Amino acid sequence: MPSYAYFQKQFVPLSEAKIGIMTNCLHYGTAIFEGTRGNWNNEHQQMYIFRLKEHYKRILSGCQLLKMDLPYSVDKLCQITTELAEKCGFKENIYIRSLAYKSSESLGVRLHDLESDFTVFAFPWGPYLKVDKARCSVSSWRRPADNVIPTQAKICGLYANNAFAKTEAVENGFDEAIMLTPDGHVSEGTGENIFLVKDGKLVTPASYNNILMGITRNTVIELAKNELNIETVERQVDRSELYTADECFLTGTAAHITPVAEVDYRKIANGEIGEITKQLQKLYFEIIYGNNSKYSDWCTPVYKK
Ligand SMILES: Cc1ncc(COP(=O)(O)O)c(C=O)c1O
Repeated sequence: MPSYAYFQKQFVPLSEAKIGIMTNCLHYGTAIFEGTRGNWNNEHQQMYIFRLKEHYKRILSGCQLLKMDLPYSVDKLCQITTELAEKCGFKENIYIRSLAYKSSESLGVRLHDLESDFTVFAFPWGPYLKVDKARCSVSSWRRPADNVIPTQAKICGLYANNAFAKTEAVENGFDEAIMLTPDGHVSEGTGENIFLVKDGKLVTPASYNNILMGITRNTVIELAKNELNIETVERQVDRSELYTADECFLTGTAAHITPVAEVDYRKIANGEIGEITKQLQKLYFEIIYGNNSKYSDWCTPVYKK
């Protein structure tokens, strides 16, 4: 099925959306990306985009950091994206990639005196980690501090760091890397936040642990509180706490809620999916497919009925 992109202020076939090789962002990673999912509900014959507004709020705050002045509001970006998804016409799960980028064909390391543009496209995409339970390793690559490069935004250049960690983990036979902060505390996966279950409570690294403030992370915190009456403690987490957790899981738009069975060759509890993780997964999948009306505000339907 042909796909489309919103590119240079119009919808074009994806194959026609091309940028020149001198484009600034290609050389210096001066762009902000966002990943959003459209989830296909066959029974409803509807696609639901999950928490679209929140993704665009995050991209615009990243633009503020990179001195990009996009002429679009959150609402306009949501409208463009919904229109794009409708035009693509997929009847399966999709991933939507949005990108705000320094579009001037001008070299030189800087943020200033460069034009910016916005593009978005969508394509069918299944599970990201491709395992029911992930085996993880603590990476030898650290997540940078905010005074090295802001980690609260999805700055393209920042992800070279994540790519080092991911490839190290995969080449060593693991599914995902867990990155530590510069001072050796748990930060997050290369494309996911991390949660532990300890004594019936959720524990997750805090904003000051150089994490991306994940939208799925926020979803899990809300669901745990509202639906399971479980509190989440956001705090500094020691590496050794990973090994002794009752349960552990990763969260992200791409990875959804992925249980962690093992860290650094140590099983988490008995290595099976924990009870709280299972309950959260059930709720989360119900909601993202538009099957829980209480959370319908989080789901943007794509197709007109
Ligand atoms: C480094 C990193 N951490 C965490 C996440 C999870 O964020 P979200 O749940 O908003 O997708 C992502 C994915 O966007 C990520 O790239």
